[in-house]
Amino acid sequence: MNWPAHGSNPQYIYEAMNIPKPNTWIDLSANINPLGPPKSILEKWLHFYESIGEYPDPFANALKEQIAQQAGVAKESILIGNGGAELIMLLGRMLAQKNVLIVQPTFSEYEKACQANGCHISYHYLDEKWSLNLQGLMEKLDGVAAVFLCNPNNPTGVCFSLAEIQFLAEACTRKGIYLIIDEAFYDFWKDYEPLTPLQRTCENIILIRSMTKMYAIPGLRLGYLIASEEVVGQIAQYQPHWSVNVLAMLAGQECLKDEEFINQTIDYIEKERAKLSLFFTQEGFEMSPSKVNFYLLRDPELESQLPLFEFLLRHGIVPRHTMNFPGLGGEWLRFAIKSKTENDQLLQVLEEWRR
Ligand SMILES: Cc1ncc(COP(=O)(O)O)c(C=O)c1O
Repeated sequence: MNWPAHGSNPQYIYEAMNIPKPNTWIDLSANINPLGPPKSILEKWLHFYESIGEYPDPFANALKEQIAQQAGVAKESILIGNGGAELIMLLGRMLAQKNVLIVQPTFSEYEKACQANGCHISYHYLDEKWSLNLQGLMEKLDGVAAVFLCNPNNPTGVCFSLAEIQFLAEACTRKGIYLIIDEAFYDFWKDYEPLTPLQRTCENIILIRSMTKMYAIPGLRLGYLIASEEVVGQIAQYQPHWSVNVLAMLAGQECLKDEEFINQTIDYIEKERAKLSLFFTQEGFEMSPSKVNFYLLRDPELESQLPLFEFLLRHGIVPRHTMNFPGLGGEWLRFAIKSKTENDQLLQVLEEWRR
């Protein structure tokens, strides 16, 4: 079967599973902030229109300045991308033909970008508690040009500690290995400790951030990367001029002004996650120890989660399958934490499943 490679666009999963599309569905397959974009985006939208008659600033200077100030990094160490996804592809290009190590299970675009550029790919698997197993990871570093690590990790929602990252970063620095840390979901993690100070001392660290998740603007495409000036320069060579459109940049600038928005989101998600977790424990489902806005779930009474997946789809609930996550192979389903109403509807359908 041809499984869709990503969440979102539920029509493709209904078609692949040969299940009739219901009139309405709740899409829990994409991990987007349920609060929607900050209000100011809508308020300023018509004003943004005035800017579409000119090419966007290819260096995205205004947006970079804002990010540099908020993240406490030099403007020269930032590269703005057409979503985190573009930056991952550019990194694949930088690493063409090299040996790369991917910590699995994780976001599939690292592998795709590396494959497209003829990299030699090896895996390191998280252990059964979704932890890093640092000792095992250390043993796989020799001869590798770069390590891809997602933190908070997609699809588990599990976060690796600053101490673990530091240990790994120092080992990578000693061996001249790039440590690429995808922080697409860092701003949903309540106790996040910034890696930017560490990045200043371990210059081989490359941080990728997406603005599409927290600010609910996946249709606009916006992300950025923080790395040494040298790496930024190298990657920028491969990026098409004007790759990031003017609407995305202007919206991004608005988003960053709204500092309360992140705290509101975190509080909302924390409450919903606690409610969901309590229900899952009571009803005998297994949930990954997520600290962010999505989680893995399985019914331990099932060998394959396919019957549950199908049941949910038929009831208009769209989770993300895990068939294309190495190490998961469909043994779990991933769910985004959405609005209270949507989450409650999921619980209702799961209650029905248990009956
Ligand atoms: C871990 C991770 N990194 C990067 C991305 C890409 O995000 P963007 O929408 O910024 O391209 C995604 C999207 O799902 C993701 O899950």
